[in-house]
Parts: sequence; structure tokens; C-alpha cells
Amino acid sequence: MQPLPTGHGNIKFFCMTAPLIDPFHRPISYLRVSVTDRCDFRCVYCMSENMTFLPKKELLTLEELDRMCSTFVQLGVEKLRITGGEPLVRRDIMTFFQSMTRHLDSGALKELTLTTNGSQLGKYAGDLYSAGVRRVNVSLDTIDEAKFADITRWGRLPQVLKGIDAAQAAGMRVKINAVALKGFNDDELFAMVEWCAARDMDLTWIEVMPMGDIGNEDRLDQYWKLTDLRAKLAENYTLVDLAERTGGPARYVRIEETGQKIGFITPLSHNFCESCNRVRLTCTGELFMCLGQEDMADLRAPLRNHPQDDTALEEAIRAAIRLKPKGHDFDYSRQTVDGRVSRHMSHTGG
Ligand code: GTP
Ligand code: 5AD
Ligand code: SF4
Repeated sequence: MQPLPTGHGNIKFFCMTAPLIDPFHRPISYLRVSVTDRCDFRCVYCMSENMTFLPKKELLTLEELDRMCSTFVQLGVEKLRITGGEPLVRRDIMTFFQSMTRHLDSGALKELTLTTNGSQLGKYAGDLYSAGVRRVNVSLDTIDEAKFADITRWGRLPQVLKGIDAAQAAGMRVKINAVALKGFNDDELFAMVEWCAARDMDLTWIEVMPMGDIGNEDRLDQYWKLTDLRAKLAENYTLVDLAERTGGPARYVRIEETGQKIGFITPLSHNFCESCNRVRLTCTGELFMCLGQEDMADLRAPLRNHPQDDTALEEAIRAAIRLKPKGHDFDYSRQTVDGRVSRHMSHTGG
């Protein structure tokens, strides 16, 4: 990367190499990195109770993760989101966050952030802030303690709430991500909105996607269309559509009465793939070009086979981006679950 003075005297950065552009002319500037497949919860829509996790030797080491992410940054990635499983259960993960700080300092990376279940934020919030994390997305589907224990199987709400407090006290903005589940949290819509407003947090709702064979739950019964959720919200509040984007798939409205932002992630009711800017790296070095497709490229081999030289890795990344599919095929509209993906969400981290 080379700093270039602009006409306004600002320092701007640009890629020495050609940026990553996919076959549908979408620039790829956002990398989501799953640093572990493990989690301290067992959310029913995400994992089965008895998951078999990967053996340690399959995982990229923290040094390898650093090299991988740094190569993407070199190729023009500006936003890095660390996910899992639960990213904060990976041993020594703060070392990795701290090492990524140098890309924020250089200006190459605009945002370093994470999506977490919140359970470990009490422990790590201060370190995350020191590493340059200013925003964190916490996955939380209910604020009812008993329901929380049910849906996460192993999770305990008070620990997550303490984590959220710690994140806010450390100076990070917290956004709550809730999967919209009919018959589960539809009765908490207003309670969650008000709870978030009182704590100055934004809230994003996500439509449940047919990912992973979790055996027990029926996606069609759970599916709560966000157009319906939005209509219900509009019964109590004045909603103003916002043009702003965070670089993710959410579309936002502002609630006039509370001033807070509500996001909608609508893979089912409104496909947003045409503006996709992201790819996903798993903890074993597979690059998934789309959350909703099976296509992937192995980046671990070119990384490990050439410890001193990133040329092969860069070429493998470019070759993968050339294969990025147009979008997912998730579809419930025929009253069947179409476009299902066998991978669990924890594999790619959402
Ligand atoms: P912001 O930076 O806050 O906008 O975050 P984000 O929406 O990019 O990331 P976040 O982890 O909050 O994403 C929330 C959820 O949206 C993910 O866990 C996925 O379930 C879903 N999601 C994100 N990107 C995609 C995508 O490309 N396709 C689909 N189908 N779903 C996605
Ligand atoms: N559909 C939609 N979102 C899901 N998540 C996990 N599984 C699913 C699914 N099947 C969400 C989690 C978290 C993020 C990583 O993905 O709740 O917010
Ligand atoms: Fe863990 Fe997140 Fe999956 Fe829940 S959704 S089991 S918190 S990875």
C-alpha cells in the first residue's frame, strides 16, 4: 500500500495491485474470518447439541491467520469481521486482534470488528478496544432469561448482559443481532426495541436461513418475514428509511420516537446479493465465496506450501474471487425449504 496525498490534503491509500473484483463487477472489500468452529453455546438453529469439532491441527495458527488476513488487506480488503463459532473462545485470540491493529494504523483497514455471543466480552472488552475495535455485534435473540437458556441450550443471559455492559463501558458501540423466529421472539419485538433504545444500542433482525442439518426445528414454521416484522413495528412507531450502509447487508430505518436504528437482514424476503462485497474465510483456511453456496477454495495449501512468499496465496485468492457465484438460492416461497446449505452457520460464522 502506498499513501497518496489527495487534492484536499488528506492521505488516501490505494492498492498497488489490482483490487478484487468478482465476475459480477462487485468489488470485494469485506472479509469475514471465522477463527474457530467452537462455541460455548449450542443455539438450536445453529448447532446440534453434540457437535464434533475440528482437531487442532486442522486450524490455521494465529500466525497463519495473520498472514491470510494481511494478504487480503494487501489486495484491498478494508473491513475485517472476526467470527466463529464464538471467536472469543479461541485461545490467545487477543494476540491476533492486536496484530491486526497495524493495518488500522496504516489506514489500509477501515474497520476491525467482531460478531460474538457476548459471553466473553466481560473478559476481553478492554483489550478489544485497545486493539482498535470500536463496534461489536452481539447475537442475542431474546431478553427473557428462561427463553435464552432454551435457545442457546448452554448460555446464561446474565453473563451476556455483563459482557454488553463491559463493551459499552470500554467505549465500543454495541449492535444487537436477533434472528427473527416466529413463535419464539415475535412477542418480544417491542420489548427488545425498547430495551435496546434504553441502552443506546442499534438492533438488527435477521431472517432465519436454511443452513446446517440441525434435525429438529422446522425452518418454515420458524420463518418470520421481516416485511411482517416491519409492518408490526410501524403500528407503534414512525419509521424513516435510511440510506446509510455499514458495508454489511442490513438496510436500516430510524425510529423517530426513540432515535435508534433498526436493521433488517432479509436473505429470504428480499435478496441483497447484487450488492455483495464480502467473502468468508473459515478457521481451516477455506474461502467461501457465498454464505449460501457450497463453492469454496482451499487457501491453506498455497499458504503452507509457500511459507516465505505470498504470490501463490494471492493467485489462489484471485482465482477464488473469479468463481464467486451470483448469490444464494435460499427460498421458502413454494412452502418448501429450497436452496438449503448443509454447512452449519458456525462453520462460516454467519
Ligand atoms: P454490520 O457491519 O454491522 O453491518 O454487520 P454485518 O451485517 O455485515 O455483520 P453481522 O455479523 O452483523 O451479520 C449479521 C448476519 O447477517 C450474519 O450473521 C448472517 O446471518 C447475515 N449475513 C451477513 N452477510 C450475509 C450474506 O452475505 N448473505 C447472507 N445470506 N446473509 C448474510
Ligand atoms: N439463520 C440466520 N441467522 C443465523 N445465525 C446462526 N444461524 C442462523 C440461521 N440459520 C446467526 C446468529 C448470529 C450470526 C453469526 O448468525 O444468531 O447472529
Ligand atoms: Fe454459538 Fe453463535 Fe452458533 Fe449460537 S449462533 S451456537 S452463539 S456460533
